[in-house]
Amino acid sequence: MFSYLTDLSCARCGTRYPADVVQNVCTCGSPLLAQYDLARLAADSSPAVFAAREASLWRYHELLPVSRQENIVSLGEGMTPLFALPRLGGHLGLARLLMKDEGTIPTGSFKARGAAVGVSRAAELGVRGIAMPTNGNAGAAWALYAARAGLRALIAMPEKAPAICRGEVAAAGAELYLLRGHIGDCGRLINAAVARRPDYQEVSTLREPYRLEGKKTMGLEIVEQLGWTMPDVIVCPTGGGVGIIGIHKALCELAELGWVSGRLPRLVAVQASGCAPIVKAFEAGARESSPWPDPCTIAFGINVPKALGDFLILDAIYRTKGCAVAVSDAELVAAQREIASSEGVLVCPEGAATVAAIRVLRERGEIAEDEVVVALNTGAGIKYPETLEADAPLLEPAGEIR
Ligand SMILES: Cc1ncc(COP(=O)(O)O)c(C=O)c1O
Ligand SMILES: [Zn+2]
Repeated sequence: MFSYLTDLSCARCGTRYPADVVQNVCTCGSPLLAQYDLARLAADSSPAVFAAREASLWRYHELLPVSRQENIVSLGEGMTPLFALPRLGGHLGLARLLMKDEGTIPTGSFKARGAAVGVSRAAELGVRGIAMPTNGNAGAAWALYAARAGLRALIAMPEKAPAICRGEVAAAGAELYLLRGHIGDCGRLINAAVARRPDYQEVSTLREPYRLEGKKTMGLEIVEQLGWTMPDVIVCPTGGGVGIIGIHKALCELAELGWVSGRLPRLVAVQASGCAPIVKAFEAGARESSPWPDPCTIAFGINVPKALGDFLILDAIYRTKGCAVAVSDAELVAAQREIASSEGVLVCPEGAATVAAIRVLRERGEIAEDEVVVALNTGAGIKYPETLEADAPLLEPAGEIR
């Protein structure tokens, strides 16, 4: 069997839905989660089979929803590097600091994973067009993968989203709208538009089940890259939460398969202090978040005032004994430079926020010196030229450099 997908279940009320037709959310309004026949997969397979497979996220096809190999829409996504950050680790007093670097993936951000799996499955189920609100990177990724699949794409993004993402969507030939508002405002307009376009599927964050499955592969890769062991801590920049929820789902599936053992890593959600609804909820011990008024941060991907899956993010944090931390824009911009100058990795502002958060957690004594800590860099720094200021002397040709 290529995929061990069985059906979908509501993350809140548990209602089951068939997976062989297009689905969005449960009638209760909550996200649907893909379910797999893990008992059968455990009997049929083992971690050893993965080593010989191609270096893409499709190496985990049994745990992905696409039912036939020929339906895969791919640009070569996945199996991004996991490398040590020894100098930066030294600054932070951590002997085993690692980075999972999504800056090298097609379209320049980890959104490629969700788009590859989501678009492949949508096309497999007969969808003709996809529609979504986005803070930029997801729209770029979905528009490009939709082009690859021959699907139409309708994208709405805040006018303040990074200009490059706008350009990527336009180059992909998608229908693009810019909005004077935030991603939540974009979502309302897309939702209303899809009601008038029956052959389009709304693929907003967690409003269809398969983007999460693509993001899940980051968790599978981290474990495989660590020799089928788990780190102690994984630090994720968190907006809509698909990354952290997906990684948690992957780890739970691996534990159920019996392919990993021991305690799950503590999952840390990092937000910007200008938009930190999950941090606020975590500090109050709440199970859900309240909408953040006037969200504002240069780490645009995490500028999400209220996530549909907030209860799943908080659940992932509480169950793994993790936490949620906010860092200021100044701290994350400083971290971006520090990572580039000490390790040669130019990360996106969202990715830089993880390092700023690790510093806070070290100062609070919440991460020990010898723990294996994975910082998730969710995209390429070169997608954000506006965050990279360079002060340099301007010379005349007759000038001199001493
Ligand atoms: C670069 C980057 N990092 C992080 C995020 C947050 O994604 P999520 O919270 O859904 O995992 C986004 C979302 O737009 C992003 O573009
Ligand atoms: Zn439900």
